[in-house]
Amino acid sequence: MPLPAALQNLPLPIIGAPLFIVSNPKLVLAQCLAGVVGAMPALNARPASQLDEWLAQISETIEAHNRAHPDRPAAPFAINQIVHKSNDRLDQDMALCAKYRVPIVITSLGARPEVNHAVHAWGGVVLHDIINNTFAHKAIEKGADGLIAVAAGAGGHAGVKSPFALVQEIREWFDGPLALSGAIANGASVLAALAMGADFAYIGSAFVATEEARAVQAYKDMIVQSNSDDIVYSNLFTGVHGNYLKGSIRNAGLDPDKLPQSDATKMNFGGNATKAWKDIWGCGQGIGAVKQVLPARALIERLVQEMGVARARLALT
Ligand SMILES: Cc1cc2nc3c(=O)[nH]c(=O)nc-3n(C[C@H](O)[C@H](O)[C@H](O)COP(=O)(O)O)c2cc1C
Repeated sequence: MPLPAALQNLPLPIIGAPLFIVSNPKLVLAQCLAGVVGAMPALNARPASQLDEWLAQISETIEAHNRAHPDRPAAPFAINQIVHKSNDRLDQDMALCAKYRVPIVITSLGARPEVNHAVHAWGGVVLHDIINNTFAHKAIEKGADGLIAVAAGAGGHAGVKSPFALVQEIREWFDGPLALSGAIANGASVLAALAMGADFAYIGSAFVATEEARAVQAYKDMIVQSNSDDIVYSNLFTGVHGNYLKGSIRNAGLDPDKLPQSDATKMNFGGNATKAWKDIWGCGQGIGAVKQVLPARALIERLVQEMGVARARLALT
């Protein structure tokens, strides 16, 4: 199946994942102008009216860039909608996405047919994130165009499946757009995602440690200093299992190795979600590859360079 127009001929096979609190227009634009699809949760704009300004800024900057550089157009951008029932801003935020005809909408936490229909009505593409093959089937049945397979080790809310198992099972029945996420932080891993059958590598945590990201310096520095041993998988903070930096949990006065269990009824994407994510820092297992805080463009250039090295190594085998 050919990829939908918005996902065809992208400069790079990479999507910068939406990051609660952390993504902002500065990071999204740096990613898009360097050839990576930049994504941002709608909920990062607060108050809700700020989303209007941010969408105008992102759309206008990309259009201006494409007019000035028709030979090297920017990658399109994506907006992430948390479609869980506790998100009371969904209708308002969807109306703004319609106003700006957002090219790619990433939906998470429950697939909703009416959201997919709305995006299709303005010509957009919907990618839905899933952590197993059952949810993948449901997402496509409900009208999503493509999938984001969130494998073990991903930052923020994450599953427990090996990326090999997940992509293999999905590719048995689905030949549409597929992004793979979970601990991808270097160019060799981007190439590996493609080799496994994904169309795109979906990278989150590595972009937290960029100059443009809206994260405090201590968070960025902790990513640089940490590796997979410093990540804990817990459902305590939002009711859904996710990966977090142990250091931020210790700083909050908790023992990351003895965290109590929570349950899904605690899931809430209204006001107190921000509080949880502000002090407890989401992060995936791949950050051993992050050695310094860089401008997003420099990180992307590193990924491209590493992809070239990995490709050359494979050609020799
Ligand atoms: C700090 C942080 C915040 C996140 N917030 C969101 C979010 O608001 N919506 C969403 O769909 N995914 C969110 N994610 C998950 C990412 O979109 C993506 O699946 C993940 O970062 C990929 O794994 P990686 O971090 O190992 O690259 C978040 C991840 C992190 C690290």
